[in-house]
Amino acid sequence: MKRILILNGPNLNLLGKRQPEIYGTIPFEVFFEQLKKQFPQTQLEYFQSNHEGDLIDKLQQADGRFDAVIFNPAAYTHTSIALRDTVSAIEIPVVEVHISNIHEREDFRKISYIKDVVKFRVIGKGLAGYKEALEKILLEIEG
Ligand code: DQA
Repeated sequence: MKRILILNGPNLNLLGKRQPEIYGTIPFEVFFEQLKKQFPQTQLEYFQSNHEGDLIDKLQQADGRFDAVIFNPAAYTHTSIALRDTVSAIEIPVVEVHISNIHEREDFRKISYIKDVVKFRVIGKGLAGYKEALEKILLEIEG
């Protein structure tokens, strides 16, 4: 059984309430329960933090304990060399996910410090993007 960590960065604990016109109306915990039911053969864990260091710790700890990470670094995508270094440093594949289409928003959101160190990216597909990322990474690691 493959183990996949879904890791969300700052303010994604507010999903459902936060700018619903951009991020939708479903809290991540609700979506995550649905996802677990859709992937009964996969061991899924979810972790969210508003703190850069906690995300770094979680990525470091995930290495060797999980088979892959689906990571939405939220605003840290556009600022964090530290998170990029962690993604580069760990051995397991990391997939970058964004709920909104960061290419069609403010210019500062077009920059991703992790884009060239991740396995692939799923952008602008709402919460369904996490499911797509999961399906694709499972195909890759299950061979
Ligand atoms: C986000 C896009 C980021 O620009 C923003 O800071 C977020 C969420 C997304 O999922 O669309 O917090 O990563």
